[in-house]
Order: sequence, then structure tokens, then C-alpha cells
Amino acid sequence: MESQDHNQLIALVTGANQGVGNEIAKALAANGYIVYLGSRNLENGKKAAAEIGDNAKAVQLDVTQQESINAAVAKITGEYGRLDLLVNNAGVSHAGTAPKTPEELMATGRAVNVSLDEVRTVWETNVFGVIAVTQKALPLLRKSAAARIVNVSSSLGSLTWISDPECWAREHFGIVYAASKTALNAVTLAFALELEKEGIKVNATSPGYTATALNNFQGTDSLEMGSREPVRVALETDGPTGGFTGPEGKLPW
Ligand SMILES: NC(=O)c1ccc[n+]([C@@H]2O[C@H](COP(=O)([O-])OP(=O)(O)OC[C@H]3O[C@@H](n4cnc5c(N)ncnc54)[C@H](OP(=O)(O)O)[C@@H]3O)[C@@H](O)[C@H]2O)c1
Repeated sequence: MESQDHNQLIALVTGANQGVGNEIAKALAANGYIVYLGSRNLENGKKAAAEIGDNAKAVQLDVTQQESINAAVAKITGEYGRLDLLVNNAGVSHAGTAPKTPEELMATGRAVNVSLDEVRTVWETNVFGVIAVTQKALPLLRKSAAARIVNVSSSLGSLTWISDPECWAREHFGIVYAASKTALNAVTLAFALELEKEGIKVNATSPGYTATALNNFQGTDSLEMGSREPVRVALETDGPTGGFTGPEGKLPW
């Protein structure tokens, strides 16, 4: 056990070796957290942690592999025995390995003919991975005096937006990625409702349209700018529970 100091805050960010998750991890470390950088490729996680500094630790974590989740949580249990913040950030926009532009994603991810394998693979990470990691981390979160869970969603998952005929985002809604974020929003509320009575806060937040590997770096916001709202929510200890926000402020579900 590394520290018995109960004022020391401990965080785990999934998919923290690059992109928005890495920005969140940097901000947490800068604000005094010990932050575990979940990375499905441990070497990438180690590299990213070394760039952040002593407060950052790499942990192998593939959110689609229960054994990997178990081992990551066991490591934190052994080293600190609790978790104050879980950021479910890991996400994919498609099932392949070669990058795809947003246009290619829409063209190959159409509800009418996309393969179920494609949908299942993306939902496995973006939806079921969040449920699996959250459930496994709950005993550790329950050891915190004020535990929080932040799910990195997308404004594209807002059904209120997408059902409005005037909304610009309609043409970007698809059954593979955007609908996985709608499902994640529902998952967020389900955990928020159940955990409210235990004082554990659960919120969803969206980055801006950010230049990352997820969109083949087509996003129009820089990493720093696009990550600002998820960073704010990750650092917010006195905020609400059951909320959904983006760069524009409060988002409708
Ligand atoms: N960029 C945007 O415009 C935008 C907008 C709205 C929402 N978001 C959300 O923001 C979050 C972060 O995405 P990003 O834009 O920063 O993209 P990114 O740079 O591609 O980062 C995604 C991260 O998730 C990791 N990951 C993917 N599958 C995983 C798995 N099975 N287990 C563990 N980690 C896994 C990736 O690992 P590898 O490095 O190994 O691939 C990477 O670290 C996602 O949830 C995304 O949906 C992004």
C-alpha cells in the first residue's frame, strides 16, 4: 500500500494514453491527484505517464476485457485501497484499425445496412465497457469520502438535439457511434439514480469537436480547447449529479 494519506485524491482515467483522456489526466495530476492512466497498450500508457510526471501511473486497461479490468482495479486496490474519481473516457468511432474521416464514418455506418459486428464492437467499448469498469470500480469508489464518476459522452448522443428538425447535428447521427453515446447517456443516468443515495455523483460530459485520432484529426478544436469542458467536470468536486454538459453548457439528454 503506497499511501495511507486519506487527503490524497486518487483517479483512474480510461483511454488516457492520448487525446481527451490524456488532457484530463494531465489536469488531474496538475491539481494534486494521483492519476492512473488506463491504456490498452501498456507501453503507450507508460510513455504518457512519464510525460506527465510522478503523480501519473500507467495501468494496462482494455475496457472490453474483463480480466484486464479486474487486474487494473486490483492494482489500485493494492496500491491505494480506494478511488475518488473514475473517468470513463475510452471510446472508438468504428470497429476498424485504419483511421476514418467523419464523412467515411457516416457513409460506412448507415443504420440500414451496417453490419451488426460493427455496431457491437463500438458499443462494446463505448457502452458495455463503461458498465463493466464502473461495476468493478464501485467497491473502491465506495471507500472514498466523495466519489465521482465522469463519463465522456458526446453532444451527438442527445436525442433532444437529434429529434429537432432544425438541429445541425442530425446529419452526423448514426447508429454506430452517436447512438452508442445516447446509450451511454442512459447508462449514466441509471448509475446516477442508483448511486445518488450513496452520495456518489455520476455525470456525462462532451468535449468539443476536437482534433484526435477518433476523427482522424478532422475535429476543429485543438486538443486543449476541445477538452476544456471534460477537464472542468473532472475537476469539479461540488457539482451536481445526473448532469450532461458540453462546451455550450448544460446539454439536453
Ligand atoms: N474528439 C472529439 O471530437 C470527440 C467528441 C465527442 C466525444 N468524444 C469522446 O471523447 C473520448 C476520447 O476520445 P478522443 O477524441 O480523445 O479519441 P482518441 O484520441 O482516439 O482517444 C481514445 C482513447 O480510448 C482508448 N481506447 C479505445 N478503445 C479502448 C478499449 N477497448 N479499452 C481501453 N481504451 C480504449 C484509445 O486507446 P488507443 O490509443 O490504444 O487507441 C485512446 O486512448 C471518447 O469517448 C470519444 O467518444 C470525442
